[in-house]
Amino acid sequence: MIFGRQADAGAGPTRPVEPAGERDAASPAETGDIGEAADTGTAAQEISFTDVSVGVLDDTPTGDVYRPILTDVNLTLTEPRIAIVGANGSGKSTLLQLFNGLVTANAGRVLIDGLDPLEQAKQVRSRVGFVFTDPAAQLVMPTPLEDIELSLRKRVPKAERRAAAFAVLEELGIADLAERSVYELSGGQRQLVALAAVLAVDPQILVLDEPTTLLDLRNREKLRRLLDDLVARRGVRVIFSTHDLDFAGLADRALVVDSGRIVADSAPVEATRMYRELIMSDSS
Ligand SMILES: Nc1ncnc2c1ncn2[C@@H]1O[C@H](COP(=O)(O)OP(=O)(O)OP(=O)(O)O)[C@@H](O)[C@H]1O
Ligand SMILES: [Mg+2]
Repeated sequence: MIFGRQADAGAGPTRPVEPAGERDAASPAETGDIGEAADTGTAAQEISFTDVSVGVLDDTPTGDVYRPILTDVNLTLTEPRIAIVGANGSGKSTLLQLFNGLVTANAGRVLIDGLDPLEQAKQVRSRVGFVFTDPAAQLVMPTPLEDIELSLRKRVPKAERRAAAFAVLEELGIADLAERSVYELSGGQRQLVALAAVLAVDPQILVLDEPTTLLDLRNREKLRRLLDDLVARRGVRVIFSTHDLDFAGLADRALVVDSGRIVADSAPVEATRMYRELIMSDSS
C-alpha cells in the first residue's frame, strides 16, 4: 500500500494504489523500533527522487478514480539543510514520508544514500529520523525519560540507559521534564521531547514535519541553533517542512510544493518569494 501508517487503508472510499511490492512501513511509534538496524554508513550522501508519483484511488459511483498526491517529483538532495514550503494539502508531509518508507511511491524511485526505503527498510529507518508534526504520534511511554530510554534500548546497555536518556534531555535543555507525565506537557514541550527521542538514536538524516508549529519564539530559536549545531558538529542532514517562512530561511535550499508538484527549487529567499507570489495570485 502507499500509506503504510494507515491501518485501515482500503476500508473507506479512498484507497491507496498498490505499488510494486508490499512492505512493512510501520512508523517508529507503532513498532517502538527506533534505530534498530546497524547501518553500514558506506553509501553516498545523496537523496534522489526519480519520476516519483504518489496517488490514491477514490471509489466513486462511476468506478475508481486516480487522485494524484505527488506527481513526477525529480530531486537530487545533497545540501545539509532543505526546507519544504507549500499550502495546506499541497503534498509536503507525503513528500517527507517518502524519505523513510512511511509512504511508498506507486511510480518512480526514491533512494536514500543509495538505499531503497522499501527494500532496505531497516537500514533506511536507522539512518533517517522522522519527527511528526503531532508529537502524540510519536510518544508512547508515560514519561519523557522512559520514552528516550525506549529509543535507546538497542544501543545502550540497560544499566546505563537512564543516565544516557537523561543526558539527551539535558542536551535539549528539557531535563526538568524528565519524569513528568507526557499527558501533562504542553504541546511545545511534547514537540521537544519527540525531537529528543529521535535525536537519541543519532540519525544521519533528520526529517521534521512542521517542527516549529507548537513552539514559542524562544524554543523556535533553540531549535534553529540545535539544527545548526547538528549540521556543523555531527554532519546531520536536515529536511523540514514549514509554514514559517522565516524559519525556512535557515535552509541552504528550499522547495515549493504546489498541488503535488515541485514548482520552485532554489535558495530560500527566492523560493519563499515565489511561494508568496503564488498564493497572492491564487487568492486575487
Ligand atoms: N492517506 C491518505 N489517503 C488519501 N489522501 C491522502 C492521504 N494522505 C494525504 N492525502 C491527501 O494528499 C494531499 C496532500 O496531503 P499532505 O498531508 O501531504 O499535505 P501537506 O502539504 O502536508 O499539508 P499541511 O500543510 O496541511 O500539513 C491532501 O489532499 C491530502 O488530503
Ligand atoms: Mg503536512
